[in-house]
This record gives sequence, structure tokens and C-alpha cells, in this order.
Amino acid sequence: MKIIVTGGAGFIGGNFVHYMLKKYSDYRIICVDSLTYAGNMETLAPVMDNENFRFVKADITDRDAINKLFEEEHPDIVVNFAAESHVDRSIENPGVFLNTNIMGTQVLMDACRKYGIVRYHQVSTDEVYGDLPLDRPDLFFTETHQARIQHQRQVLICLFRHITEHLNCL
Ligand SMILES: NC(=O)c1ccc[n+]([C@@H]2O[C@H](COP(=O)([O-])OP(=O)(O)OC[C@H]3O[C@@H](n4cnc5c(N)ncnc54)[C@H](O)[C@@H]3O)[C@@H](O)[C@H]2O)c1
Repeated sequence: MKIIVTGGAGFIGGNFVHYMLKKYSDYRIICVDSLTYAGNMETLAPVMDNENFRFVKADITDRDAINKLFEEEHPDIVVNFAAESHVDRSIENPGVFLNTNIMGTQVLMDACRKYGIVRYHQVSTDEVYGDLPLDRPDLFFTETHQARIQHQRQVLICLFRHITEHLNCL
């Protein structure tokens, strides 16, 4: 099993990389991260020598780089943790949020569609789902700008799910 993990140098993505390499020692994990202020390579230092791990410094909005990586690796699954994630920054600079969180998501969805990836996991946030009941996925909690962007990227993913029959988005 090959998994592309974006944002793997970040807080949650880094923990996911460690968890997966430990629990599934035969899986190949390809981490894509542009190393913004939030990325920290020290998080990944313990796995850099693992032969089942590859780190690629790339921006998820860079279509050519992402397509090239998908062509090289032919992943089975994509898990997208790459994001601008801090609410206060979304108020100061919403443009960078739109670029990474919306346009970057679209680049990944396009690549999944182009290369026939059947499973895509979008990592969302409690600021979208809040305390909503699990059996009401139609409801969203949209108090902050960051939450609205998270919501919009999920709408985008729903759109791709409808137009790409083979893509299983979670
Ligand atoms: N931290 C939390 O408590 C929490 C809780 C719920 C949900 N989430 C969600 O999980 C996701 C990840 O959160 P986190 O706390 O790990 O974030 P983080 O800010 O710690 O890490 C984000 C990572 O994405 C990378 N990145 C940013 N823009 C990129 C781009 N354009 N291309 C490639 N890489 C890019 C950064 O370099 C960084 O390594 C976010 O969507 C966040 O909203 C986080």
C-alpha cells in the first residue's frame, strides 16, 4: 500500500506518518510538504532513514510537481493534512488560506481523478463539525473564516465525488 500524506511535517500529519510507519511497516509513505512556518522537519527526523518513507518538499498548489509525484509513485491513497490551519492568520491573510486550502485541494483532487486514485481522505476540523451529531453530515458549523474555508474545500470534494465515479472521498 502506498499513501501520499500531505502536510506530514505539521502537527497532526507528522503524528500520522509516525503512526502509519509503526503500525503498517510494509506500507510506503510519501510525505509532501512545502515547509511553511508550520512545518518542522525535526518531527520527521526519526523516519527519514526508513526505506518505506520518502519526503518531498513541494507545494500542493504546484500542479506540475503534484502530477509528477503521482506519476512516479502511483499512490493507492491520498491523505490531505496540508493546510493553513491557524484561525488568527486566516483573519490577517485570507488569501494564503484560499490558495492552499481551496486551490491546493483542487490540485490534489484533479490529480486523483487524472491518475485513477480511488481513495482520498480530507482532514477537516472540529471548527467545521463542532459538536454536531455524527448522523447529520449535512450540517456544518461555520463560525470562523477558517471554518468556512474548510467547509468550501469539502464542498469541492463533494463535487469531485459526484463527477468522478471511482473516487471514494472521506
Ligand atoms: N491541530 C489541531 O488541533 C487540529 C484539530 C482538528 C483539525 N485539524 C486540521 O488538520 C489539518 C492539519 O492540521 P495541523 O495542526 O497538523 O496543521 P499545521 O499547521 O501544524 O501543519 C500544516 C502542514 O501543512 C504544510 N503546508 C501548508 N501549506 C502547504 C502547501 N501549500 N503545500 C504543502 N504543504 C503545506 C505546512 O508546512 C505544515 O507542515 C488542518 O486542516 C487542520 O485544520 C487540526
